Amino acid sequence: MSERLPIAVLVSGTGTNLQALLNTVHGREAEVVAVASSVAGAPALARAQERGVPTGVFPRSAYADRSQRDGALADWVSERGARLVVLAGYMELLGASFLDRFPAAVINVHPSLLPAFPGLHAVEQALSYGVKVFGVTVHFVDAGVDSGAIILQRAVELPGARDPGEVLTALRPLEHSLLPQAVALFAAGTLAPDPDNPRRIAVSTDETIRVGER
Ligand code: GRF
Repeated sequence: MSERLPIAVLVSGTGTNLQALLNTVHGREAEVVAVASSVAGAPALARAQERGVPTGVFPRSAYADRSQRDGALADWVSERGARLVVLAGYMELLGASFLDRFPAAVINVHPSLLPAFPGLHAVEQALSYGVKVFGVTVHFVDAGVDSGAIILQRAVELPGARDPGEVLTALRPLEHSLLPQAVALFAAGTLAPDPDNPRRIAVSTDETIRVGER
């Protein structure tokens, strides 16, 4: 097998998506070399520590401004050798002082079918709009809010949904499947912008590739 892709995971909360990565691609297609949180005491940090992954905490309040925080975060992540940065429930925007350090190598998981319902409270936005089909998107991160090129998406029909918790429960397994798949595809070097439309990410292997749990 080829060399494992070193990845950093950025979190702010519970970390179920981080756990999915630790349970699937970690030690196989990828190696989680760093987990950074914007929130001290986030449960996600304990998940990393349990697997011996180095953790760091970078709260916005500890820095003069967002750009300085982003710079410190980028330094820490790159010192650990990460070549892909995965936002897994990271509840902050990343500016140029971070993104310019990892060109085309930052991805995010979002609980809607983008471009519908970007930003915070995506599921509440979708419920309030009255949609019947919900879903999950994994996309590259650019300077906008959930506006980067789409890597993978999956939908689920929930025509009678009324409660955000019920929708999130339905979306979680989709997130936990798609995010590791996207990491595996990136690690395999199979994600490439379509020359005719760089917004379209061509996936040169079967998108339904299964990444197994251990
Ligand atoms: C997920 O719903 C993800 O789509 C969103 O934040 C949530 C993170 O959940 N960006 P977890 O911390 O991975 O459990």
